[in-house]
Amino acid sequence: FFQAVASPPSSNFLLLGPSGAGKTAFTTLLETKSSLASNKSHSTHTSQQSTLVTVTLPPTVPTGSNRYRSDNDPSLKEAIRNPIKYRVRDTPGHGKLRVSQGISELQTMSQSKDIKTRLRGVVFMVDTAALVDEATLRDTATYLHDVLLFLQKRAKNGSSSKRTTDVPVLVAANKQDLFTALPPGAVKEKLEAEIDRIRKSKTKGLLDASADIGLEDEEEILGNDEQETFSFKLLEHEVGVKVDVIGGAVKGDLQEEFGSGVRRWEEWVGMCL
Ligand code: GTP
Ligand code: MG
Repeated sequence: FFQAVASPPSSNFLLLGPSGAGKTAFTTLLETKSSLASNKSHSTHTSQQSTLVTVTLPPTVPTGSNRYRSDNDPSLKEAIRNPIKYRVRDTPGHGKLRVSQGISELQTMSQSKDIKTRLRGVVFMVDTAALVDEATLRDTATYLHDVLLFLQKRAKNGSSSKRTTDVPVLVAANKQDLFTALPPGAVKEKLEAEIDRIRKSKTKGLLDASADIGLEDEEEILGNDEQETFSFKLLEHEVGVKVDVIGGAVKGDLQEEFGSGVRRWEEWVGMCL
């Protein structure tokens, strides 16, 4: 009856998102939470290299394979003794490093046949206090659009079973501690509307170009159905790429509202395991 809660070494998560969103702060927090010694100092510099860290899931966070864990469940005791480990790859969000690092890491990790480096999920982090700025919103949505389009193409080409090809996306709506922060619902709407605009201008650009040289329009549109307004729901329905937008905060005291500022993201991670 002691359910074996093995620490799957195969659980890799990729952390993407624009510069300043809080990716490195989040990674550092997870590392600190995972080890008793909190001797790591927060690096708040712009990252230039991606890093891979191994962290542990708090034993009280349920996992997808162990969904109904209760307080007196023996598997909880086992989880405390033998916490589930997973790995997070933090990437630099600077615009000039996205293709060479973030997107390229996404390609490598998602195409890996090696179970040790298999990608379980993408965490796309955003600074919810910065999205009121038009340029930041456009930049963030463009990056997210490119990530989702990659996953869409991958989902279409994937012939193997769904279980191994599924890569869900968490939009981690960070910095909810700031009073200027947009709530997660508004973040979702803004990103969807902006991605819709990006999609429309892409389609138009393609139509213009193909009219010029008389070529067929071959490029894929995110979410396929271009008549429909873009939404994450449409994407899930049309291509099976699932996106969740969940609020949280790496910094600040959000005990009352969130339990811990990153708890709900850890729960999302747990569901992918
Ligand atoms: P790049 O490495 O450039 O891609 O950025 P990053 O996403 O790694 O951002 P980083 O972790 O360096 O954080 C940027 C700044 O945001 C730092 O000053 C952090 O302390 C701050 N920050 C991160 N999370 C939060 C949060 O939840 N609330 C507040 N108020 N500040 C945060
Ligand atoms: Mg960083």
